Amino acid sequence: MGVLRLPHYPSLGSAAALDAVKVIHYAHPPVLLIYFSGALCATFWFQQKETRLARIIYRSAILWANLGVLLTYVLESVTLLSHSLVQPGWWAPEHTVVHIVSSILAWGVLHLCLIESPEPVWYPYWGSWILGLVGELSIILLSMKSEATAPQRSIFAATEFLLRYLRLVILLSLPILFWGFRKRSIVTETSNTDETAPLLGQTRTNEEYGAIVHIGNSDDEDSGKESEFQERARKRIEEGGWLEYAKSFKIFWPHIWPQKDRALQTQIALVGGCLVIERGLNVLIPMQMGRVTNALMAGGLAGHVPWMEVFFFILIRWLGSGAGVPALQRYLWVPIDQYAYRCITTAAYNHVMSLSSEFHTSKNTGEIYGAVQHGRAVTGFVEMVLFSVLPMLADLIVAFGYFYITFGIYMALIVTFTSCVYVWITSRLNRKRIDLRRKFTKRSRRETHLMWQSMSNWETVAYLNRIGYEQDRYSGAVKCLQEAERDFSNALLMLNVTQSATFTLGLLFASFLAIYQVTMGQRKVGDFVALLSYWAQISGPLSFFTNMYGRIQMHMLDAERLLQLMQTAPSVVTKPGAEDLVVTKGEVSFRNVSFGYDPRKGAIKGMNFQAPGGKITALVGVSGGGKSTCLKLLFRFYDVTDGAITIDGQDIREVTLPSLREQIGVVPQDPRLFNETIMDNLRYACLEANDEEIYSACRSAAIHDKILTFPEGYLSKVGEGGLKLSGGEKQRIAIARAILKNPKIVLLDEATSSVDITTERLIQQGLNKLATGRTMFIVAHRLSTIMHADQILVIEDGNIIENGKHEELLKLRGKYSELW
Ligand SMILES: Nc1ncnc2c1ncn2[C@@H]1O[C@H](COP(=O)(O)OP(=O)(O)OP(=O)(O)O)[C@@H](O)[C@H]1O
Ligand SMILES: [Mg+2]
Repeated sequence: MGVLRLPHYPSLGSAAALDAVKVIHYAHPPVLLIYFSGALCATFWFQQKETRLARIIYRSAILWANLGVLLTYVLESVTLLSHSLVQPGWWAPEHTVVHIVSSILAWGVLHLCLIESPEPVWYPYWGSWILGLVGELSIILLSMKSEATAPQRSIFAATEFLLRYLRLVILLSLPILFWGFRKRSIVTETSNTDETAPLLGQTRTNEEYGAIVHIGNSDDEDSGKESEFQERARKRIEEGGWLEYAKSFKIFWPHIWPQKDRALQTQIALVGGCLVIERGLNVLIPMQMGRVTNALMAGGLAGHVPWMEVFFFILIRWLGSGAGVPALQRYLWVPIDQYAYRCITTAAYNHVMSLSSEFHTSKNTGEIYGAVQHGRAVTGFVEMVLFSVLPMLADLIVAFGYFYITFGIYMALIVTFTSCVYVWITSRLNRKRIDLRRKFTKRSRRETHLMWQSMSNWETVAYLNRIGYEQDRYSGAVKCLQEAERDFSNALLMLNVTQSATFTLGLLFASFLAIYQVTMGQRKVGDFVALLSYWAQISGPLSFFTNMYGRIQMHMLDAERLLQLMQTAPSVVTKPGAEDLVVTKGEVSFRNVSFGYDPRKGAIKGMNFQAPGGKITALVGVSGGGKSTCLKLLFRFYDVTDGAITIDGQDIREVTLPSLREQIGVVPQDPRLFNETIMDNLRYACLEANDEEIYSACRSAAIHDKILTFPEGYLSKVGEGGLKLSGGEKQRIAIARAILKNPKIVLLDEATSSVDITTERLIQQGLNKLATGRTMFIVAHRLSTIMHADQILVIEDGNIIENGKHEELLKLRGKYSELW
């Protein structure tokens, strides 16, 4: 084997060159890793996509080349190891070992990232290749200089030499492969996997429910909502990157931070203090344990008892235990947590209640309940970050420092390696687990939905004789749910096993190193004891990492739903500076009013009429003509799209909403009651009414005597939505409510459609009483009810086609006389 004679560069002293090599050895891999992770974060943060560059041809060649670089480092480490085995007592210089091991780490990370992104943004990679090339080239040149004086002639040196040059060649070939060979075509957006990948790393599973055919489209709806919501989030990201996206969450800030409450603010600061103390204790406890061991080793046999050391050890153990500082921290946190939850939930609740009819009729009620309760998600998210993520990161940094100081750089490398492998394995397996979780929640939602839907529509199910069908469907859904649950929990088990294996392996290497150092007399036994105890200490919090990852994602999803809800603006609001409605005569006019529930289809088309104050205006016409819609517009459940509705000359959009709704009493087509007593339901219309007033209103509505026949009279419960009452009874209770509310304008939508002629006559008397001095709108199909109205409007297809009194309309022989 020939001697490797290398050229001599006289400008630089060989000692200086060696120093320079040392510095590069230590600094090169971290610099590369820092650049790579920084650039990768930047692509993620700004959601950059590789669209301008043409597609490279030899992606797999690049992958192999990358792996090649990694392998040269691995082989170099093997060479060093063999060298030390063959030649006992020989050990490579520390800087070389550190360089090789940390390069394996850096290039390993690079390689894994490249494998996992089929169409990556390339600059983090080519930047790293160039950094790698520059570093290796400098090392080679400087080594020539430093080794020139002491040429080595061993097989190991030759292998090392060859590996270095091989690496240099591969590093040179990488940019050539990348820039030299590329297709002319421009990568299209659609081929970008980022686009099709869901926002939070989950892959959507389109699952079917096997033999179970289901009515309705709850799943489609679910996934539809989910994709809509992801679409929105992605759009937000495209608009301004992650920063903007994160900023959109700031609407929660005033609900989390107690701006006015000094005491709570102090408490938050104290919690922060507790967290810092806990970090300190985490490292102090194992160190003290080491000290106790050392003291025992040193003086135990000589009769010296380390009382103080042991006392201090027990003291900090106690402080660090669940009964010490963490207990204080939890105690201080409860009011803060409650404050945040209270603020967010009530804000969400208030927001939902202030949203318009449009929102409430189009959304699934269950989903809205859910979103309101997602207030927990926001506080949960803050808790996760504050109590798990940040402390864990701090613990890791402290641990790295501790191991470095106590056991040297090799131990620090072992810790870093273990943590990296751990994090990689966890995030990899977690991705799968999250898919399974998604499947599980989807099925669980479906199970609840099925149960809820069939139970709440029990009557329909029974009418159509589908009880057996529903039973089968439900048991099928439970089975599906359990399958998903089993897969999910198995995935967790698998994850825990792998994590634990990683930790154990890391501990094995760490123990070997520490034991070696102890036996060599470089460290004391106490240090080894401290290592064991510290390892256990940090592995605990790290194993939370699994749950944490999933929980953070879950909280983020939930918080996004809440955010979406909070960002839904009510379409009907009181204008700023609006004044209260003042009703004098109660004259209502519709001027050129147009409106449509859907912009594509008008429900009211340029309607014009005037309802004189204190008079009865009747609306009649075929079903679906738009009668109820007119009343809803007047009540401002919706705002008109064109024209205006005025009450005594005031546009209803210009007055405050509560003052408008206070003046209008409504008896809807399908009155809904709370599942409370009849008395409570009635009193809801006028909270301060006394019993006598309520009885009198019921007498007017011809329901008083009927109520008294119920076993518990006014204290009878009415059942869900008033299920225990007949349609006519519900309507009369609604009329009594309107009477109690004592409004200036009354809207009756088919108020007497479900009662017999005798009762109708009774109610009519009540209504006549109610009508005196009030403007009334009556919608009726039974025209006898409205014969005596002051004005009758015949409505068809969103328009008034006839208008006049009963006799006039009959004479016209038009639509009205047809209906009669
Ligand atoms: N919430 C809604 N969303 C979308 N479309 C609606 C909504 N409510 C009603 N519509 C549609 O608007 C039109 C007018 O409905 P409206 O309820 O005003 O009719 P109506 O004259 O009161 O009929 P009926 O005599 O049967 O009560 C109908 O075609 C109906 O399908
Ligand atoms: Mg109607």
